[in-house]
Amino acid sequence: MGWMICEVPASQTYPLRQLLLRQDRSDLPLHMPDDDVPGAFHLAAAGEPGQVIGVVSLVPAAPAFLAAVPAWRLRQMAVTPIHQGSGAGSALFVEAVERVRSRGAATLWAESRDTSLGFYVGHGMRAVSQRRHSTLGVS
Ligand SMILES: CC(C)(COP(=O)(O)OP(=O)(O)OC[C@H]1O[C@@H](n2cnc3c(N)ncnc32)[C@H](O)[C@@H]1OP(=O)(O)O)[C@@H](O)C(=O)NCCC(=O)NCCS
Repeated sequence: MGWMICEVPASQTYPLRQLLLRQDRSDLPLHMPDDDVPGAFHLAAAGEPGQVIGVVSLVPAAPAFLAAVPAWRLRQMAVTPIHQGSGAGSALFVEAVERVRSRGAATLWAESRDTSLGFYVGHGMRAVSQRRHSTLGVS
């Protein structure tokens, strides 16, 4: 299936952040300080116009580990449960890589949940640290 990927305001990512990334932490705000970082942008995948089925946010940010700069952080990636496994996450990831590359990125990094690590590794990312934290600190 071909997904339409387009840039959207942060607010359009909130419903999927809420649904998939805040299940146990509904007290955390859906808006993140990273959303306000100059240059940050957000992508949405749509099956049909206006039907957002996946989101991801990209933020200019240096990681704690040694990495080529400029570096961008991939955050808040989520695909609706009924569309998971149908390629929307891959389409978002590929578009994210293209768009940060065109903005000059030398590194793209992310902090992953254990359950999604396989997705990122399958898309060419490399695990560089096993620093762990609980969802209490995650935004
Ligand atoms: C992780 C997530 C974004 C992947 O999106 P998706 O649309 O399901 O992924 P795709 O359908 O594009 O899958 C592409 C490939 O990655 C694999 N894959 C998808 N999710 C995976 C996972 N959690 N672990 C390992 N591999 C995974 C698929 O099997 C597929 O492999 P293939 O190309 O060999 O068939 C989605 O499952 C999701 O929203 N999960 C819940 C929220 C979450 O954990 N987000 C990440 C926060 S760090």
